[in-house]
Amino acid sequence: MKLVDTHAHIHMKHFNNDREEIIRKFQEENVEFIVNVGTNMIDSKKCVELSNKYKKIYSSVGVHPHDSKDVSKDYLQYLEKLSKNRKVVAIGEIGLDYFRNFSPREIQQRVFTEQLLLAKEIKLPIIVHIRDAYEDAYNILESFGPFEKGGVIHSFSADAEWALKFVKLGFYLGISGPVTYKKNEQLREVVKLVGEHNILSETDCPYLPPHPYRGKRNEPSYVKYVVEKINDIIDYDVSEVLFENAKELFGVNI
Ligand code: NI
Repeated sequence: MKLVDTHAHIHMKHFNNDREEIIRKFQEENVEFIVNVGTNMIDSKKCVELSNKYKKIYSSVGVHPHDSKDVSKDYLQYLEKLSKNRKVVAIGEIGLDYFRNFSPREIQQRVFTEQLLLAKEIKLPIIVHIRDAYEDAYNILESFGPFEKGGVIHSFSADAEWALKFVKLGFYLGISGPVTYKKNEQLREVVKLVGEHNILSETDCPYLPPHPYRGKRNEPSYVKYVVEKINDIIDYDVSEVLFENAKELFGVNI
């Protein structure tokens, strides 16, 4: 089984004591590559540095909706500069989060839109975070699209109707640990409905650990639990398809 984790945050402090070990482990467990995702200006730089150190780690750069109130005036130029590194494969994670509202909604919308335009200009795919904001995010993506390089709605958590709408707009749906949760029949229905050609596998580690690791720290090697569950739902081994989807979206030759 060839695996890929398209959404990890192993630069975060949760991995400070055993990062090397975690990186060694995911490679041993057939994870062919990971995309390590930035969430603000400071950690985007860390992501790029980490990806330059390890062959199987790629990175994205971007400002998460939580951090959008803290951007500097020149943040777009800064992201553009970082994106020139050959290991940077996407702009993200960017989007809207009306669940926590750590940044005011108008600022979230502005920063999201500005980064969408940057991604279009520099021809990179986007990694989108949406929480309790599917309608606004959809409207923004629809009005500023189409996105030639595509993107992914990461850790997709809405219903089947939204799933079809985003797929129709040209996005992959990122499927993570919650697909293994007993109560999450909705997400399993979404997987079945959109099929393996519209899905990417991810962990969002250190968050959202799959069963049987709920309550623990998540890590890239646990993506196998997500893929096994997707295989169960679709009823054949789709790991090769998910691997190819990720390579295609992020332009990774491995
Ligand atoms: Ni994330």
